[in-house]
Amino acid sequence: MKVLITGGAGFVGSHLADALLSSGHQVLVIDNYQTGRRDNLSPQTNLTVIEGSISDAHLVNTAFDSFAPEQVVHAAAAYKNPDDWEEDTLTNILGTINVVRASVRHKVKRLIYFQTSLCYGLKPLEQPITLKHPLYSGGFAGGSSYAISKTSGEQYIEMSGLDFLSFRLANAYGPRNLSGPLPTFYHRLTNNKPCFVMDTRRDFIYVKDLVAVVVKALNGMGNKGYYHISTGSDYSIKELFDSTLKALDMKLEKEVEVRQRGEDDVFTILLDPSKTNNDFEWQAGTALEDGIKAAIDWYKVYGITQTFTHLKGVEEKH
Ligand SMILES: NC(=O)c1ccc[n+]([C@@H]2O[C@H](COP(=O)([O-])OP(=O)(O)OC[C@H]3O[C@@H](n4cnc5c(N)ncnc54)[C@H](O)[C@@H]3O)[C@@H](O)[C@H]2O)c1
Repeated sequence: MKVLITGGAGFVGSHLADALLSSGHQVLVIDNYQTGRRDNLSPQTNLTVIEGSISDAHLVNTAFDSFAPEQVVHAAAAYKNPDDWEEDTLTNILGTINVVRASVRHKVKRLIYFQTSLCYGLKPLEQPITLKHPLYSGGFAGGSSYAISKTSGEQYIEMSGLDFLSFRLANAYGPRNLSGPLPTFYHRLTNNKPCFVMDTRRDFIYVKDLVAVVVKALNGMGNKGYYHISTGSDYSIKELFDSTLKALDMKLEKEVEVRQRGEDDVFTILLDPSKTNNDFEWQAGTALEDGIKAAIDWYKVYGITQTFTHLKGVEEKH
């Protein structure tokens, strides 16, 4: 199989590249290293990496023409500066259009996309959220430049006529994850910085469980359309924090401060995974404690210099 992965030097994309390469497939990655890391991918014969932005149509077209991918996994996304609407638009909308146009031109068999569950807005109408829930990436439900632009990208993909699967993801975590609460807790705890937790809950999906579904999709399972990749259970961020302490074998003198969430943050995101469970004969199998331990083992070896968030006013940069 020849698979082109945009954002393949990032967290999800690099785990997928590893899985495909270890099964003997050929992979071409396009990444501009905005939030990805060079050491996420190990050089090897079946891997080609092109450094550049998917907003550059010429670069995207040249990559497609030289590699002639059979399938495309579009994992690149911009989100690290919530006020940089222009960059979010260039990458998540124009970049997606460039990838879609090239995929149509090359008649790729399947295109896979990863959508944020923020497409359901900040006040979802049901828990767990089903795939029938309306999209509220902006407007009265609040929203963010990230959610607006990712949702536009998803809609261009649907309009293209390609055989696409859009996976709407719970909060992915694991080795190489640099966004969200876990890397932030690790970084602060190991640098003797004070920590606080938000009064929110999340459905945490371990990256290798997520990649297992994507590999099945590349092997032809699943049908065109939308899926959730999630466990279907949520945990409070405080529980995540306590498990992080446990994995680090640390104890704090007093309980961590629990803070009220910001206006652009959502209380819980619990996604109904039943369609994915059925169509892919798949269940998320990794226990939160085991996944946290694996992530922390990676942070200990590779270190964290920066973490990222699409949320406004959250101090995650170090
Ligand atoms: N991690 C999650 O919990 C989560 C949840 C929902 C959706 N997603 C989506 O999954 C995908 C992968 O996310 P991730 O967690 O691996 O994030 P990530 O930041 O690790 O990966 C994104 C990659 O895209 C690259 N990139 C950014 N702009 C680019 C551009 N213009 N051209 C080429 N490459 C570019 C980055 O350098 C990075 O390597 C994204 O599309 C994201 O929106 C992730």
